[in-house]
Amino acid sequence: MTAIDDPTPETRLPFFLRGNYAPVETEVDAFDLPVQGSIPPELNGRFVRNGANPDGYRPYHWFDGDGMLHGIRLRDGKAQWYRNRWVRTKLLAGAERFDQETMSFDLSAGRANTHVVRHAGRILALEEGSLPMEVDAELATVGPMDFDGRLDTPCTAHPHVCAETGEMHFFGYSFIGPPYVTYHVADAAGSLIHSQTIDIPSPVMMHDFAISRNHAIFLDLPVVFDLDIALAGTGMPFVWRPDNGSRIGLLDRRNVGSSSPAQPRWFEVDDCYVFHIVNAWEEEGGDVVVLDAGRHPSMWAGDANAFEPCYLWRWRFDLRTGAVTEEQLDDREHGFPRIDDRRTGLANRFAWATTGRPGERPMTDGATNVVKYDVVSGEGALHDFGPTVSTSEPVFVPAADGAAEDEGWLVAYLYDRTDETSSFAVLDAADMSADPVAVVPLPQRIPHGFHGSWFADEE
Ligand SMILES: [Fe+2]
Repeated sequence: MTAIDDPTPETRLPFFLRGNYAPVETEVDAFDLPVQGSIPPELNGRFVRNGANPDGYRPYHWFDGDGMLHGIRLRDGKAQWYRNRWVRTKLLAGAERFDQETMSFDLSAGRANTHVVRHAGRILALEEGSLPMEVDAELATVGPMDFDGRLDTPCTAHPHVCAETGEMHFFGYSFIGPPYVTYHVADAAGSLIHSQTIDIPSPVMMHDFAISRNHAIFLDLPVVFDLDIALAGTGMPFVWRPDNGSRIGLLDRRNVGSSSPAQPRWFEVDDCYVFHIVNAWEEEGGDVVVLDAGRHPSMWAGDANAFEPCYLWRWRFDLRTGAVTEEQLDDREHGFPRIDDRRTGLANRFAWATTGRPGERPMTDGATNVVKYDVVSGEGALHDFGPTVSTSEPVFVPAADGAAEDEGWLVAYLYDRTDETSSFAVLDAADMSADPVAVVPLPQRIPHGFHGSWFADEE
């Protein structure tokens, strides 16, 4: 059910505990699942999606639930298994993040609920307040991952792997005292090769960042840590504070490896918030950097359960003049934008995101549509799952190594509120008007969650 049409007393609960945001209580294994349609035979691998699934407590916010992974294993056109697993974090076991004896945060204690990625053969469940939690290909928890003791900050849930170098670029932010941000690079083999602090004036929520061929791009936007709320433990300890200003910083990636690296060059922009970037790239011989992202005009201005709408915007940074331009590219509210990851840091033409029917809020009602953006032509195309079916983030899987940018598949989990069931679906990424090529009914409901990845078999 959606927040709009649910008439029952449970509407008194916050949205993230109602309808299909409510957690499931069991871990399930199912094998040899029935398939409607045909799973493309080249889809050999696993689709895994993370989300908040609080285990027996009332979280203070949507973002505060225990991480639960939902995975489906495809091979030779068959759906071999589905399973869901909580990430076995210290918090799931009852520990606290903050140690009052030592007055310090335990970096290895997080919810691990936001994203799941693979780099250098390791699968990492991520939540931006803690170290990555490694899991295996069967979704069993391995444990905290700190790059052999070298990572001493939290890790964003949105690392980005350079399409050209295979490096994983990421950062961690903290809010107890400066430095508030630290930038890290792991090489393609998974070794941490660079860490440097990024100077910003205040502790802000920095959910995502971007890379282009030569730059790492940081978002210093005014959702600011509030110590009083944190100490009271009553809610989301970040608040909208536009007097902090809004700026975007471009750090020259050629700093990587330097023992005395430079700081970003900051560009003042109109006040806004960005949870998710789409991509960034360079033009005009590298003198112009382009950033596409989902821009909210504000975030949590008065209510941390009210997510202001998000639209596709573009910023262009001219490194010669210091000028920045800002432009809205599309008027559809969207969430969870994704690209063909082989374009990370390079110019992309296509992006896919969740969106809603008129009047729906895709971030909090469940999203009934996927929008495909063509940022070259400016056109958009929709896939509408129907009024009762909502989709998770659409993850692009190329049809082959040399496939064109939209030649491949979108994979996602669906939820049908008429019978409270879930399924896995495969869409043709090039043809949004077509019916799904495959749907796999699943043995339990999959709550609305956050981000996921396709892990192709490595063989
Ligand atoms: Fe995110």
